[in-house]
Amino acid sequence: MAAKATITVRADHPLGKIDRNVYGQFVENLGECVYPGVWVGESSSVPNIEGFRRDVVEAFKDVKVPIIRWPGGCYADYYHWQEGVGPREQRPGRVNIWWGRGVDTNEFGTDEYLRFCSLVGAEPYLCLNVGTGTPEEALAWLEYCNYEGDSTYARMRADNGHPEPYGVKYWSVGNENYACGGNFDPVDYARQYRRFALYLKRMDPAVKLIACGFIGSAPLGASDWNLRVMETLEGYVGLVDYLSIHYFFRGSEVRGGAGPFGGATDFTDEHYLNLLADVQTLEHKIKQTIEVLDFFSNGTKDIGIAVDEWAAWYSDTRMPALYQQNTLREGMLAAAVFNLFNRYAKKVRMSNIAQSVNVLGTLCLTRGDRTVLTPTYHVYHMYRSHMENTAVYADVDSPIVRDPAPARPSTGPEREISPLYALDVSASVSGDGGTLVVTLANQSPDEDLEVELSLTGGGELAGGSATVLTADKIQAHNDFDHPDDVVPRGETVNAPAGGTLTYRAPRHSITSLVLEIRR
Ligand code: AHR
Repeated sequence: MAAKATITVRADHPLGKIDRNVYGQFVENLGECVYPGVWVGESSSVPNIEGFRRDVVEAFKDVKVPIIRWPGGCYADYYHWQEGVGPREQRPGRVNIWWGRGVDTNEFGTDEYLRFCSLVGAEPYLCLNVGTGTPEEALAWLEYCNYEGDSTYARMRADNGHPEPYGVKYWSVGNENYACGGNFDPVDYARQYRRFALYLKRMDPAVKLIACGFIGSAPLGASDWNLRVMETLEGYVGLVDYLSIHYFFRGSEVRGGAGPFGGATDFTDEHYLNLLADVQTLEHKIKQTIEVLDFFSNGTKDIGIAVDEWAAWYSDTRMPALYQQNTLREGMLAAAVFNLFNRYAKKVRMSNIAQSVNVLGTLCLTRGDRTVLTPTYHVYHMYRSHMENTAVYADVDSPIVRDPAPARPSTGPEREISPLYALDVSASVSGDGGTLVVTLANQSPDEDLEVELSLTGGGELAGGSATVLTADKIQAHNDFDHPDDVVPRGETVNAPAGGTLTYRAPRHSITSLVLEIRR
């Protein structure tokens, strides 16, 4: 027996274009993310392309990574870009004061990072140093990357092998400046932002600038941070293109225990449902952020949201490298988070998972010359078809898998968690109107769902394909002995008789349906 659910996709109710950058990545000099997750050097026995791990480059290309954020994270507000350009053997080592106090050899610097982006086919997204840096240093970096004429830093770039400007479009003015990015208060940070942004936009008016937002609660930063930043920026909103927010699904806040989410592989059904229910907290924070942005921009500027760090962070995450195994549960979480971002396509225009390799919500785990692809990776692969489509409204009727719950410490006393429904969905239509993409997660830990899918407001559903990711248990994961325990399988979907497609979604599974729309 399976429970029943229905999805009615309303093609004539657009929710905004899904920016490809919503499926973005993030690599920081943290733990084993950059070294050796991305960079092993040309002389390494690990198969590489110009020093970059071949397997990781190929994996990123396959998933069509649109954008990669670097150098941090906390490392960004401590990073001095000039130490990472020029002959590698002459670059100074720099103690990484965050995440383990290792030494960054600076082998992977600006030119290596930008080469990595171009090998993968991704846009670069650089994070500037506000905490220990100056507008002068930021401007010099922008000049190095983008200046087309003959200048000191453009010549330096040419001497380092790249006469053509890189044209880096996305720049954030600091990272988590309420904490590791300098312990600013919101007013001081906003004043710094105004100062940096003025000069950056004068140097290159084409850049898109990302301001630091915050959706957590005190004492890490002011709980009204976004409001106070935007209030201080009133009159200057033209300088802000995106507001960045970070959301970690953290299980460590109940000290001494496994927390509400358990460990990375050691968790119960209850932990699993708690985690998925917490996606509602992220939704609540996104709504609040939209209200603040809309209020202060007052119709003069359409500022986007960049969720430029997000992931689950469990109580047993290996510190300080932030290494975590990645189970089917991470796949279920990524599916729910992307469904949410798709539904908020109008405002959520970028996201970057923390992080891409060997850290937290990772896509790839590396050991020696081997790389394992995680369930999170497979979900990125399955959701690629949404990129640049128009998100459309989907009316969902589903059984509940978890009743409302009281507020957790991180959500604040202001709200409780609503019921968690088994079926979580987003839908989009291709630019030519000929393809419907529906991604659905059956979040139930123990029951299959008989799903009836229909389309209204434009065309008729024809056949297509289904890609399904599941496993015998939610704790299933891929490791170096079993790299293929959780891999997607493909199925053909026949054109439904009578216009309604019936699909059986296995318990704890994610499905991507790519269907033709017949006019
Ligand atoms: O992504 C891991 C760390 O988490 C980053 O350095 C920091 O920005 C965040 O707090």
